[in-house]
Amino acid sequence: MIICDETNLLFTLHTKNTTYQMKADSYRVLLHTYYGPRISGGDLSYLIQYTDRGFSPNPGEAGHCRTYSLDTLPQEYSSCGVGDFRLPSLETELADGSHITDLRFIGFARQDGKYALDGLPAFFGGGEWETLILFLEDTAAHLRVELYYGVLEAQDLITRAVRIVNQGNRPIRLYQAASVCLDFQRGDLDLITFDGRHVMERCPHRAPLRPGVQGVGSIRGTSSHQHNPFVVLCEPGTGEDSGLCWGAMLLYSGNFQAQAERSQFEGCRLVMGINPHHFCYTLAPNEGFTAPEAALICSPNGFSQMSRQYHRAIRKHLLRDPLAGQRKPVLINNWEATYFDFDADRLVQIAQAAAPLGIGLFVMDDGWFGSRDSDHSGLGDWSVNQKKLPGGLEALVPRIKALGMSFGLWIEPEMVNEDSQLYREHPDWVLGIPGRAQTRGRSQLVLDFSRAEVRDHIYSALRAVLSSADITYIKWDMNRSLSDVWSAALPTERQGEVYHRYVLGVYDLLNRFHRDFPNLLMEGCSGGGGRFDAGMLYYTPQIWCSDNTDAIDRLHIQYGTSFCYPPCTMGAHVSSVPNEQNGRVTPLETRGVVAMSGAFGYEMDLGKTTQAEREIIQKQVADYHAYYQLIQDGDYYRLSNPFQDPFTAWAHVSQDQRQALVSVVTGSVCAAPSFVTLRLKGLDPSLRYQVNGVSYPGDVLMQAGYPLPMPWGDYQSVQLYLSAQ
Ligand code: GLA
Repeated sequence: MIICDETNLLFTLHTKNTTYQMKADSYRVLLHTYYGPRISGGDLSYLIQYTDRGFSPNPGEAGHCRTYSLDTLPQEYSSCGVGDFRLPSLETELADGSHITDLRFIGFARQDGKYALDGLPAFFGGGEWETLILFLEDTAAHLRVELYYGVLEAQDLITRAVRIVNQGNRPIRLYQAASVCLDFQRGDLDLITFDGRHVMERCPHRAPLRPGVQGVGSIRGTSSHQHNPFVVLCEPGTGEDSGLCWGAMLLYSGNFQAQAERSQFEGCRLVMGINPHHFCYTLAPNEGFTAPEAALICSPNGFSQMSRQYHRAIRKHLLRDPLAGQRKPVLINNWEATYFDFDADRLVQIAQAAAPLGIGLFVMDDGWFGSRDSDHSGLGDWSVNQKKLPGGLEALVPRIKALGMSFGLWIEPEMVNEDSQLYREHPDWVLGIPGRAQTRGRSQLVLDFSRAEVRDHIYSALRAVLSSADITYIKWDMNRSLSDVWSAALPTERQGEVYHRYVLGVYDLLNRFHRDFPNLLMEGCSGGGGRFDAGMLYYTPQIWCSDNTDAIDRLHIQYGTSFCYPPCTMGAHVSSVPNEQNGRVTPLETRGVVAMSGAFGYEMDLGKTTQAEREIIQKQVADYHAYYQLIQDGDYYRLSNPFQDPFTAWAHVSQDQRQALVSVVTGSVCAAPSFVTLRLKGLDPSLRYQVNGVSYPGDVLMQAGYPLPMPWGDYQSVQLYLSAQ
């Protein structure tokens, strides 16, 4: 619910469990007065104290009043260069060379429904949403700033986006345009970030804020394996089920920055948005710039509630899944089985082994096009390699379909190898600086997706491929970080726009696929989870979570990922052992339990499995189908922390709380292990649940728990299915 008090210029956003408030003060500076557990209302600006502070300057309107300073006030969208020395939200360079932004409130608009953003991903939906737009202006700069708020009451979600418009007659250069600024009048908070590396993404790190600025970001052109555009601030005692926390997520797939500053008087400011590194966007007169959307959730009851609220909002209002409401097939991907070394018969063999096990989608990974016999050549040439696949997809796809399977394809549209037809014809189509040696990554260069003609060419080649056969799925990969960022198509003063225009170009191409192939399921990928962000999820409702398919490492990766992204978005496959990434051997049952907690599939040569293994796989596929609805739409509960506990447990609980699937994986075994009792979560305390043929009250299972069997051997797993009677 949005309440606009026009007399007092007080704006209050209520969600089911939280309240957010802003107020334009007597100088029309927009102050942030509250964000926390839901309260009845009132004007929270009484919390702000005005005191004369040394070295905190006073704005012109305040005259010689020394108690009013932007340096100490909690602001909704912080200013720059006029006496607030904390993190700015907006940094501009005006035609006179000044770098000052001083915003004042000039008006507001309230709308039913959710605003949309042109060319950028955003949460969507109808009647469940309300929108508030606050208009700010820097009169001297002729600059208007529009702050957008989307309120999804049931999920405690508040989205924010910002549009900056040059109303003058001279250009303005933007150096920073944050999507969200969040001021707290307390500094005793912990910051949690989700960090890692290729094959070990999104591991949570938590530390108390110390004075000064701390944060994470990416300057790799993608959101990156190293840090994720999602952070949490919380009270020091906050845990899974209690304590106050605030999540901030950016819907953006390029360079981002999330910084928290603990300030001199024990305040904290969180600023998140496009990374200012090499960002300089010129706004011509009357031109506007839209900063990507951010999505906030405050939970008064710990991380678990925050995660569930994000999951519900993402599933219903961000994913555009062509198979929503239908059951997605389990997939088999040939990558770890063959790498580049395959032909049509070899692929059909793999599919033949998979089909009788209930696997319904065959995905042909890298190596099917151009001269792609290794990762040194062929990228950019999107026509079928006739040596490997004589007769093309027109010949291969019917053979797969005859087995009762649908067909999917790997693509990597943003890249080119120098050894390719495309590069030989268009060497200037890559990002790169003339006269400098190119930096390669996986022997490939990056196509300049800021250019429409480059995107047009790639799109028409891929459209021809997709139209040549019945293709129901694509895996959109992206296998290097951006470097040598410079576009031959832009003038010197606009080179600071390339990183952002590149991301807009990727979104543009993804949108064209959506428009022209509405039934195509797209899975995102960037060397696994290098671009696992909410921006990509708007286009690709599932993302390959990590190139690491080891079940035990995956427990950690999927645990971290679950803090804001729902399990149904995490591509997860069973692969062969010893694992290709770390050599670990885990039981097939355990690999299945871990992978079926995401978008499930296999990535191995099933023709090489024993009869006993095939029976296990058949059961896994049947189980996945049986639990499908629970895993896709259920609420997710983390029941332990794999970074601390000797076992990892989690549960999917149906929205009506009548069913649950509890999964447990143990670590390396020791003799005479301790007893472990697992206390369940999310059940209805007043219902009785059947577990392994015995009935237990829900409150008993949650308060007293359920005993886990003694592990025998490393990395064992248990799945418990609970149904209410
Ligand atoms: C990336 C992906 C893998 C596979 C290879 C193909 O690494 O993450 O799953 O598709 O590319 O080259």
